[in-house]
Amino acid sequence: MTTLEQAKNELQEKGFLDIKTPGIDYVKEINRLRKEKNAVILAHYYQEDAIQDIADFVGDSLALAQQAAKTSADIIVFAGVHFMAETAKILNPSKKVLLPDLKAGCSLADSCPPDDFAAFKKLHPNHLVVSYVNTSAEIKSMTDIVCTSSNAEKIINSIPKDQPIIFAPDRNLGAWLIKKTGRDMLLWDGACMVHEAFSIDKILKLYAENPGAEIIAHPESKEHLLKVAKYVGSTSGLLNYVKISKAKTFIVATEVGILHKMRQESPDKILIPAPVDDDNCNCSECFYMKMNTMQKLYLCLKHELPEVTVEAALSKKALVSIERMLELSK
Ligand code: 13P
Ligand code: SF4
Repeated sequence: MTTLEQAKNELQEKGFLDIKTPGIDYVKEINRLRKEKNAVILAHYYQEDAIQDIADFVGDSLALAQQAAKTSADIIVFAGVHFMAETAKILNPSKKVLLPDLKAGCSLADSCPPDDFAAFKKLHPNHLVVSYVNTSAEIKSMTDIVCTSSNAEKIINSIPKDQPIIFAPDRNLGAWLIKKTGRDMLLWDGACMVHEAFSIDKILKLYAENPGAEIIAHPESKEHLLKVAKYVGSTSGLLNYVKISKAKTFIVATEVGILHKMRQESPDKILIPAPVDDDNCNCSECFYMKMNTMQKLYLCLKHELPEVTVEAALSKKALVSIERMLELSK
């Protein structure tokens, strides 16, 4: 008969119970395992602090894809969300790609279901498809060029002016790109629940209370917020802007996890996380990004599970649009 203790241990081993295993030093064990298995840990800026601190490389989604494309490690542990690990797998079909929690999805990627997108694309056969990296492999396989918020403007500008474009799936990034590039693109109506949760009224109140402060925002935020932002850019763009700006105080409109790296890189700056509409919600935290924990990172390195897989034919198709992006980003 299974005792309660055995059942608990089993759930913990599978990563279903996030209880710190007594006596396990996660930092020490993760360091030992990654060396033993020649594994590389890639982490996004939205991961919890401890994961960012132990990662071999921390970056935005473009830099993480570039790292994945050139790694010589046997195992890639992707401390991020599913579409990021899936992109790493497409770039490395023969390597093992692990994601500490397979349920770490993305509301933006979910807002673009493949069947609906295929039907939409069919209605506009003359359009070239540019998709944000926050999409499933199925969407990437229907895409001509993938982009991230770091290179989207450059990629749109590289397309001949008379070529009609579908941009998917983020309506806010899409509208921002239309303004920046002057291109009249057809937009998919998707969005990120984290970046749409910011309160413009509370942000403007904070701005009035902090003379000299600058509002900076990720382009997945709503148009009214991007309009009042002094700087709009990807996570790495935001980090860099805080470093080079002469301002002392910043109201930061993106997932709060980025403040960890921002504090490390700009210790003399005052960083205020942008408030959200709902006072009872921790909405500026990406619930999916935060599904990964140090315990799950340790367990996934130990058991080499859960593994991200992509069906071979689909992977081959999706690779074309990712490689075009990497080529255009050099
Ligand atoms: P970056 O490409 O700027 O890192 O953004 C990824 C993301 O998921 C933003 O929500
Ligand atoms: Fe997706 Fe938004 Fe989370 Fe980024 S912050 S991973 S876009 S749900």
